[in-house]
Amino acid sequence: MAEEVERCYDHLAGHFHLIFEDWEASMARQAAALGPIVERGCGELRVLRILDCACGIGTQALGLAKRGHRITGCDLSSAAVARAGSEARQRGLDLRLFVADMRDLSAVPEDDFDAVVCLDNALPHLDGHEQLIQAATQMRRKLRPGGFFMASIRDYDRLVQEKPVVHGPAFLRDQGRRRIVHQVWDWIDDRRYTFHLYITRQTPDGWESLHFASTYRAILRDELTSVLEGAGFIHVRWMVPAESGFYQPLVLAEAGKE
Ligand SMILES: C[S@@+](CC[C@H](N)C(=O)[O-])C[C@H]1O[C@@H](n2cnc3c(N)ncnc32)[C@H](O)[C@@H]1O
Repeated sequence: MAEEVERCYDHLAGHFHLIFEDWEASMARQAAALGPIVERGCGELRVLRILDCACGIGTQALGLAKRGHRITGCDLSSAAVARAGSEARQRGLDLRLFVADMRDLSAVPEDDFDAVVCLDNALPHLDGHEQLIQAATQMRRKLRPGGFFMASIRDYDRLVQEKPVVHGPAFLRDQGRRRIVHQVWDWIDDRRYTFHLYITRQTPDGWESLHFASTYRAILRDELTSVLEGAGFIHVRWMVPAESGFYQPLVLAEAGKE
């Protein structure tokens, strides 16, 4: 599954911002919601050393860096990491970036982070419970004792009951041109589905449709809670969007002493 995920996000890297009505505004909104949660979680108002271990093109990493934190980002997709680097340079932000699979974070040379984050439904790209345990263990090892962990996943407790087959469409517009974004979900079994993302947009030469596909495995909240506890996290708790202002449920935890 990792090769397929990597291919999908390498292909998507140049277009990922098109999923949002206004990527810049989304980054600012997300940082305004997530920044205070991480800052409170770390217990001190100072420059934090944060590892974003599925940074993609930097939607959260850039926003957190803008708040003054020292951000290291890594991702499976080398194309996404390259774009995060160029977006950071354009904004005068300094991100340390690495290509790494979250199941093996040895390519990231630093340790003892104040916080590790993994946002926007990256964990469900892992193929099975064992891989989730591997990733949680690696993230725990990157934290200082008492360090703060935050991840977001879709509300799969509800979605596995409803098994939706379509997400969207969202009708977007920028600089006078229209864009339609929608997803089709093909359920493979009770937990796994192939997601097809379509970005259909007006160009100066007419309409074009881009298609990206990958696989997700729905993670339930109880499963993730027990995996995190098994990996040495303590005080695992969930925050719903109404509390956090972030669009997906968040799981928060602290690294216990080894
Ligand atoms: C929906 S994107 C979110 C990216 C980023 N957080 C953002 O919002 O811009 C999910 C990301 O998870 C990354 N990913 C999936 N599996 C991964 C793995 N095993 N290790 C590291 N990154 C992974 C993908 O490459 C992709 O960039």
